[in-house]
Amino acid sequence: MIAAADVLITSSDAALPVRPARGVKGLEGAAAAWAAANDFTGKPGQVLIVPGSSGTPDHALLGVGEGDVDPMAGRPLTAKLPAGDWRLEGWHAAEANALALAFALGAYRFDRYRAKSAPRPRLAVPEDLDPAATQAVADACFRVRRMVDTPAADMGPAEIEAEAREVAQAGGASIAVVAGDALLEANYPAVHAVGRAAAPHRAPRLIELGWNLDAEDRPLVALVGKGVAFDSGGLDIKPAAGMRNMKKDMGGAAHVLGLAELIMGANLPVRLVVLVAAVENAISGDAFRPGDVLQTRKGLTVEVGNTDAEGRLILSDALTRAGEHRPDLTLDFATLTGAARVALGPELPPLYTDDETLAADLMTASARVGDPLWRMPLWPGYRSSVEAEIADLRNDSAAWAQAGSVTAALFLQRFAPATGSWAHLDVFAWNPRARPGWPEGAEAQGVRAAFDMLQRRFPQG
Ligand code: BES
Ligand code: MN
Ligand code: ZN
Repeated sequence: MIAAADVLITSSDAALPVRPARGVKGLEGAAAAWAAANDFTGKPGQVLIVPGSSGTPDHALLGVGEGDVDPMAGRPLTAKLPAGDWRLEGWHAAEANALALAFALGAYRFDRYRAKSAPRPRLAVPEDLDPAATQAVADACFRVRRMVDTPAADMGPAEIEAEAREVAQAGGASIAVVAGDALLEANYPAVHAVGRAAAPHRAPRLIELGWNLDAEDRPLVALVGKGVAFDSGGLDIKPAAGMRNMKKDMGGAAHVLGLAELIMGANLPVRLVVLVAAVENAISGDAFRPGDVLQTRKGLTVEVGNTDAEGRLILSDALTRAGEHRPDLTLDFATLTGAARVALGPELPPLYTDDETLAADLMTASARVGDPLWRMPLWPGYRSSVEAEIADLRNDSAAWAQAGSVTAALFLQRFAPATGSWAHLDVFAWNPRARPGWPEGAEAQGVRAAFDMLQRRFPQG
């Protein structure tokens, strides 16, 4: 299993330099000739290994273009550099930090089921660049990706709980889990209804972490995650192509656990509550059905138009629970809709919030750390699309409204805490194509942007 410390090391005598190529203007002599012979123009993403007189690598050039350096410019490095030790030379301090993080994020591989894992290049990060902080961000993103990449057979509700216990233990948080039929007594009826068809050892559960809750002068941040270990679609069963990748439907849970790990690790001056609804949307004689009317923790009833719109059902109970803590800020992450990808594609998660300052702060953070987000509207004109025939709400919004990611967000909005502000991220959690530095498979989206925003809102004393 990859850890950031395997990739970002603190010193190495043998490390070869990685230098910036801001275009090719600065290159001279043999290096300029080598660049020309290799079609290296210094544009962003290009990497050139420059040999010394013996023919072995002497240094590498990373193309970053002529303007501001993209925060994720370093991601292709691990894919393009030979294994061995490297160091940064000729970069500004702020660039170097971002490059080191990007280098680590690009180094992620999911090799749990492989006999051997390929050797990787490593990057030496000087102590004054605070490698521990960079490693923490990389490790949190690695947790997110490892959880999402792990097949549903090995990342069921119980294993999601185990990950949550690990995060709680490391950060000094308390953890409470309500599972199986106890969900009914504890008033999580929607979580129970969605998850009850699963095998007993994969029973649904509501996982709650609490950190610093006694520090009542601190603002309370609530994180809520969709943890559908596998989304078969339930009785409104998904077609094969749509089901194939639904091991990733616990992506929201993975994202909030990674973010919680960062918040606690950095000891941000907040109180933290993390709520993960972990279920398997399975099929059995006891599965919830199209047409059923479900109770929710809030008391609103929901007519099930489609059992495949299960995420918003479990999140309704988790968001209601979040509200009971009277949070100042609530963030939820969920692989909620296929429509989000239709609207913005896999690499740009929709962000929803009615709080203008929160939207601005998240978008600023998103640009600063190179973690894309795009704001979409909680359009009031579509609110009636989630109203039902025989219940308060329906989980499959009316077809006329079409904008499936927007209407799903409007459904969640009905359950968002009454206190503080709320933002919802409809993440894809996946790279469907491989690019150097972005291997095909799980991706953490919005975690770094959210953490950057929180660090600036709640700086350490
Ligand atoms: N987990 C899916 C959404 C999803 C699909 C996310 C593919 C990422 C990639 C969700 O539970 C779902 O099935 N949503 C349905 C809702 C519909 C039935 C109203 C969808 O988006 O099609
Ligand atoms: Mn579904
Ligand atoms: Zn789902």
